[in-house]
Amino acid sequence: ATGTERPQLDTGVHDKSRAAISARHLRTDRWWLAPAATAAGLLAFVVYSTWRAFGNAHYYAAPYVSPFYSPCLAENCEPMKAGPNLEIFGSWWGLSPALIILIFPLGFRMTCYYYRKAYYRSFWASPPACAVAEPHKKYSGETRFPLLVQNLHRYFFYAAVLVAVILTWDTALAFRNSDYEWGHMGLGTIIMVVNIVLIWLYTLSCHSCRHVIGGKLKHFSKHPVRYRLWGWVGTLNHRHMQLAWASLISVALADFYVYLLASGVFDDPRLF
Ligand code: FES
Repeated sequence: ATGTERPQLDTGVHDKSRAAISARHLRTDRWWLAPAATAAGLLAFVVYSTWRAFGNAHYYAAPYVSPFYSPCLAENCEPMKAGPNLEIFGSWWGLSPALIILIFPLGFRMTCYYYRKAYYRSFWASPPACAVAEPHKKYSGETRFPLLVQNLHRYFFYAAVLVAVILTWDTALAFRNSDYEWGHMGLGTIIMVVNIVLIWLYTLSCHSCRHVIGGKLKHFSKHPVRYRLWGWVGTLNHRHMQLAWASLISVALADFYVYLLASGVFDDPRLF
């Protein structure tokens, strides 16, 4: 047996009705590697996105707008000809406009079934890995506040679809040059296209999406279209974790690319 001695608790795997195994766990592999890597990846994204969201600068380099700042809903947005720029929040809004919109993609990811597993394991060790008992004395699952809020995931999914539609529009506008003439492509256009494809794949592979498409049906035979769509979403759903990471990285890279252009580090290489 490996691991430290079993803590003196009488709940969970230490409940009196369970086999009295003294070792904390019996795993001999490096089970801690996955939660440690997950924690490092998520932490890196949180640090980067916080810096960028509060930065309130360098988020627009014609014709590209950072996905962190779109749609721009405040009067203090940089004048943009890319993406919707609705001044719903007037001059009283003095903070970064990213803070208004990021709540939706952030809420979508925070309540995502995969990310829940990821941060429950890596940050809360609840449990840290399969067959490794958690150190907590009590377990109330997601039945109480604040974790009860996880049930809002479906509504965040609806918001995320809307945001994805807007980012798709931003991507279409990226097929222009810096004088806003159509029919051009730069390296940034490719980065924007890759990012929006990954965002759509991640959004459509959502478990809530799968339920919206194919749930609450008694007979698939009477709903052939929904059955077909449900099958496609199910195929994507098998890759949900990979898509979650790929889209997280791509959205950060797309933002960083706009940051580099907007801060004058280099000019966007135009392909045609
Ligand atoms: Fe992950 Fe919905 S379950 S986005």
